[in-house]
Amino acid sequence: MKNNSNKASTYWDNFHKDIKGYGAFRPDPVLSRYLKLISKGKVLDLGLGEGRNALFFAKNGFEVKGIDISETAIQSCIKRAKEAKLEIDVKLQNIRDLDIPENTYSLIIATMVLQFLNKKERDIIFKKIKKGLKENGIFFMRVFSLQDPSYKIKLESDKIEMIEHDTFFLKKRNMCIHYFSEKEVKFIFKDFQIINFSEIYSLDLAHGEPHYHGMIMCMGKKI
Ligand SMILES: C[S@@+](CC[C@H](N)C(=O)[O-])C[C@H]1O[C@@H](n2cnc3c(N)ncnc32)[C@H](O)[C@@H]1O
Repeated sequence: MKNNSNKASTYWDNFHKDIKGYGAFRPDPVLSRYLKLISKGKVLDLGLGEGRNALFFAKNGFEVKGIDISETAIQSCIKRAKEAKLEIDVKLQNIRDLDIPENTYSLIIATMVLQFLNKKERDIIFKKIKKGLKENGIFFMRVFSLQDPSYKIKLESDKIEMIEHDTFFLKKRNMCIHYFSEKEVKFIFKDFQIINFSEIYSLDLAHGEPHYHGMIMCMGKKI
């Protein structure tokens, strides 16, 4: 099975240099909507980017740790934390190498990142996430769905290899990309009480030419 090498971090460094302020520095709307439900404590943000979610939780009194493979993203996040006088523990680290201490977090966030792992890697991190949450801890993820227009383009391309079910290998970026179905996401959350499940198809004006994305967001409480 093809594995993503660390060279993918070059792609993400360029991504963050090109798109300063991904997500317009606003926290994910699902996270801000359900802030009340998250008991005060530790938050882990996987692939935190420039920290739009991590900084939101730091500002709201949580003890936040975040990891990312992009040095550019990390530096931007640290700068923003300093400017806002917020403390946050940020590390340059690959999700694949992360050990999550058991029974520790009130909230684990993974927005727009888990689709870049292959099946085996996803299975491993989902297990770690579940163990890493405290009782009643919350997991939130946002991922690309099968409705994303790029799924169909990849499916029909004879240059892009499908390496696993609904997972493609992007040679230029040296990474894979997976598109999730509703059934698959609900299976991941089978041991959680689902707080919010939503699937959207919407126009993205945040970077490049206006384009559409299909995404699934799911938030669940560990039971
Ligand atoms: C589309 S951005 C989303 C950033 C952030 N989660 C947000 O919603 O604003 C994807 C982020 O995941 C990071 N990333 C991708 N693969 C990763 C991996 N294997 N381990 C850690 N971070 C990763 C990238 O560097 C990038 O910052």
